[in-house]
Order: sequence, then C-alpha cells, then structure tokens
Amino acid sequence: MVPSSGSDSVPFAEPVPLAHGGPIPPLGLGVFRIPDGEPVRQAVSWALEAGYRHVDTAAIYGNEQGVGTAIREWDGARDEVFVTTKLWNEDHGHDETLRAFDDSLGRLGLDEVDLYLVHWPVEGRRRETWRAMERLHEEGRARAIGVSNFMRHHLEALLAHCHTAPAVNQVELHPFNFRTRQPLVEFCRERNIVVEAYSPLTKARRLQDPSLLRVAHEVDRTPAQVLIRFVLEKGTVALPKSGDRDRIQENAQVFDFRLSGDQMRRLDALDEGLTTAWDPTAVP
Ligand SMILES: NC(=O)c1ccc[n+]([C@@H]2O[C@H](COP(=O)([O-])OP(=O)(O)OC[C@H]3O[C@@H](n4cnc5c(N)ncnc54)[C@H](OP(=O)(O)O)[C@@H]3O)[C@@H](O)[C@H]2O)c1
Repeated sequence: MVPSSGSDSVPFAEPVPLAHGGPIPPLGLGVFRIPDGEPVRQAVSWALEAGYRHVDTAAIYGNEQGVGTAIREWDGARDEVFVTTKLWNEDHGHDETLRAFDDSLGRLGLDEVDLYLVHWPVEGRRRETWRAMERLHEEGRARAIGVSNFMRHHLEALLAHCHTAPAVNQVELHPFNFRTRQPLVEFCRERNIVVEAYSPLTKARRLQDPSLLRVAHEVDRTPAQVLIRFVLEKGTVALPKSGDRDRIQENAQVFDFRLSGDQMRRLDALDEGLTTAWDPTAVP
C-alpha cells in the first residue's frame, strides 16, 4: 500500500478500487455501540479531522442520524467521504429491503450511500433481498453493494444467481482468527470481492497478548496500531471502532510503518479461531 497525504498530520493510503462503485479508503471508522446524537456526531467529526474518509455504520447500530449529521456538517465535499450502512436481518425480502434502505437514507440525510451491505446471511430470503440490492445499485442510490458475514457457501450460492456480484464482504478478521479465515479471504480475492476486517482490535479482548505486545515493542507502536497494520498488510480494509478522540487519532497512525515477514508470521501463529461477534459458519 503506497502512503499518501490524506490530511496535514496523518499520511493515509490510497483508496482501493472496487468491482463497482468505489474506490474505498482502506481505513474506516467503525461506530458500533457509539450512541446516536452527540457521541457519534463527535466521533465521526474527530475522525474526519484526523484524516479518516470512511465511516461504517448500520441500521441496527441506531446511530445513522448522528453519523449523517457529522458528514453533512463537515467542510469537505460529500464525495470525499465513503459511507457504508447495512440492511438488518428483519428487513430481508425485496420490498422490505427497498423500504429499509429508504429509511436508512432518511436517517443519514444523504442522497446515496457509497456501500450498502447485507448485514448477515439470513436463511431463506437472501435471493429476493439481493434483487432489491441490485436495483438500488442500478438506481445509483447505493454506489456499491456487498455483503457481511458471508462464508464461502453463502457467497457461492449468491454468485450462482446474481447479476451484480457483491463488491465487498465484511467479516471479522484479526491475527486471532486470520489463518482460519484465510481460505475465505482468498476466495473473495479471486472473485474481485474486497474484504473488510471488522473487529480488527478483537473488541479490545486481546490487546494484552504477550506476542502482540512484543511486536508492538519492536516497532515502537501500540498493540492497536499493530492489529490495524496486520489486517492492512493482509490486503483487507480495516474498520477499528473508537469513540475516543485520542484513540481515533492513534488508530489512524498506521500508514508510516510496516510489519516484517517474521512479525507477520508470529502474529499469524496467534490464530485460535476467535470470533468476538457472531460466527456465521453454521448458517445454511
Ligand atoms: N458487519 C458486522 O457484523 C460487524 C460486527 C462487528 C463490528 N462491525 C464493524 O466493525 C467495527 C469495529 O469492530 P468492533 O466495534 O466490534 O470492535 P474493535 O474495533 O475490534 O474494538 C473496539 C474496542 O477497542 C477499543 N479501542 C479502540 N481503539 C483502541 C486503542 N487504540 N487502544 C485501546 N483500545 C482501543 C474501543 O474502545 P473506545 O471506543 O473506548 O476507544 C472498543 O472497546 C464496528 O464498529 C462496526 O463498524 C461489523
């Protein structure tokens, strides 16, 4: 990834091309569990100030309104920020998807989103849902469409009938599960589906891991920065969440160092198949 200047203080990497829509900035602010209103508005504003140009929200996070406020209040052009939101499980189905999308846009106060994701591979209704997703893409209101928590069998079923393939698959990724999910990442790459790493900080559950601390010490960075760098080195898009101004800034300082092959191998060895969110593997 070639560093480039995204703001005065923080060097950022170039956006990554998507199969359609895009390109997508390789670092995005996750806003899961940041309350709507002032807390999320503030977090997104701090992130934009720190050079982030990508925000990842979802209907179920209940904070689209505050995210939209921060984006609309920002001095920069709307086109410079990549905004993702997601269709929640109860809203699957053709007409339901179209309605849920309108509701999300309404809450965001935007005319279109850069990426609309199916949040979870709900059994039985995915086909009709995807037809609606394709329509939203054709209408240009969702510049790109994609999925989240889709394992290989979910993707194979979707690819067999879709007209527009998903541009993105957003899944949980960090050193504590990467090896387990490597085949999925490769499957996506071969099909030109960009992989986004959610919960890249393991929801802060493994930040004190001794091997991680050793690597952090070697590169003179924090464990969180090493975890973000790890998923970037793997060619995935990193979506760390923080509601704290200092940590939002810290998590952006990841484009001016690299992890060596040996450090990546030691981090790879931490795989324990950890999922801190949900494991979609068993969903038919
Ligand atoms: N598609 C899906 O199903 C799905 C599921 C889960 C998550 N996601 C997306 O991925 C994003 C990130 O995942 P996540 O929210 O589960 O967890 P995460 O980013 O792995 O970890 C967030 C936790 O780490 C803390 N933290 C952040 N930066 C830190 C730092 N520099 N040092 C120490 N602690 C730090 C945060 O606390 P503070 O806020 O206090 O800093 C928070 O407790 C979400 O916000 C969401 O956008 C998607």
